[in-house]
Amino acid sequence: MKGLPQPRGYPWGFFGHLPRWAGAPLALLEEGARLGEVFTLGLGRWAVVGYSPAWNRLVLSDLETFCSTGSLATLTPYLRGGVITTEAPEHKPHRQALDPLFHRRALVGWQARLQETLEALRPPETFEAGAWASQVVQASLNLLYFEGRFPPALLARFLAPLQQPFPAPLLPRPLGFARVRHEVRRLQRLGVGLAARLPLEEVLIGLAAGYDTTAHTLAWALWHAACYPQWHHPQRNSLLIQETLRLYPPGFIGSRRAARRVEWAGVVIPKGAWVLYSPYLTHRHPDLWSQPLVFDPSRFEGRLPAWGYLPFGGGERTCLGMHLARLVLETALSLFSQLEPLKGDPTPRPGLTLAPQGPLWLRGR
Ligand code: HEM
Repeated sequence: MKGLPQPRGYPWGFFGHLPRWAGAPLALLEEGARLGEVFTLGLGRWAVVGYSPAWNRLVLSDLETFCSTGSLATLTPYLRGGVITTEAPEHKPHRQALDPLFHRRALVGWQARLQETLEALRPPETFEAGAWASQVVQASLNLLYFEGRFPPALLARFLAPLQQPFPAPLLPRPLGFARVRHEVRRLQRLGVGLAARLPLEEVLIGLAAGYDTTAHTLAWALWHAACYPQWHHPQRNSLLIQETLRLYPPGFIGSRRAARRVEWAGVVIPKGAWVLYSPYLTHRHPDLWSQPLVFDPSRFEGRLPAWGYLPFGGGERTCLGMHLARLVLETALSLFSQLEPLKGDPTPRPGLTLAPQGPLWLRGR
């Protein structure tokens, strides 16, 4: 693509940057970011990537131009449907119907049962944070959507590919999806939980969008709570979670598809191109954050850079499950009065979402 920098790759061939993207996307993004605030990647289709607050605002606040349908995220069958692929102008009323169900106030009545459910899942004194976090999030989603009545093994099997390396999350799984749809319909007919108040597709999308994102955040938050015990306190856990999401945003890359040609600040985005924003790059931008690589939750006691902190995205498509995720994360952290790191590797490992390389062994009381 003319005029924009691009990292080293094979831009003349069909594969372009695909081999590097598949192998080490964070290194590729970081190399691109060093070349300019907007750069391009050849991913079988041209992608324009930016990470400045002005770029984030452009991409996230014009739903008519930057569509979700056909974006990178919708390459996985797990995220292809429901509100995610509803476009403007239908998206707004669609969200307005869903938002009240996921609002902070709507979740209050659910808090005590969540606490109880997670108490029952308290791990042994020595435990691996990633595995326990996955269990916690499955049980939390099961409780909210189905009052805990969805068969746990079926839920675990349905969600497992989301945490596996590529191509597992991209493969069609018609049989597995059909089994899950059948079970969801059965529970909907019984009037169970939030599922009974939602269309079937929204239930599947909520489970998929809420699972690995929240589980990976919880694993990292537990690890950092152990490494920085001064921040692990009921009144400080929310700052700890915010800082965890700054350094390790599970949705490290967000994507759209350009519905028309756009010219912006000298950058030409062709119609049909993928348009990417990167919470990972924005959250480590040295112009926005002092000592960006240092874990310091105190930075969230001050003002945040507008369009510079977006672990849950931004604009009208801001994460539907944001309050739910925070509630699960805070409740899980509050189960422990003390955590100690034993052995682990918290380096981010990219897949469909960003996960800790792991394992993360902890001792907890
Ligand atoms: C820490 C946990 C979570 C993180 C980091 C996260 C992150 C995100 C991000 C970055 C987006 C915006 C994607 C984009 O527009 O480019 C998003 C959207 C979304 N999230 Fe989450 N999410 C989390 C938990 C959840 C949970 C628990 C649910 C369950 C309901 C959920 C459901 C959704 C849905 C349905 C959307 C699409 C909204 C729309 O298109 O209008 N997420 N999430």
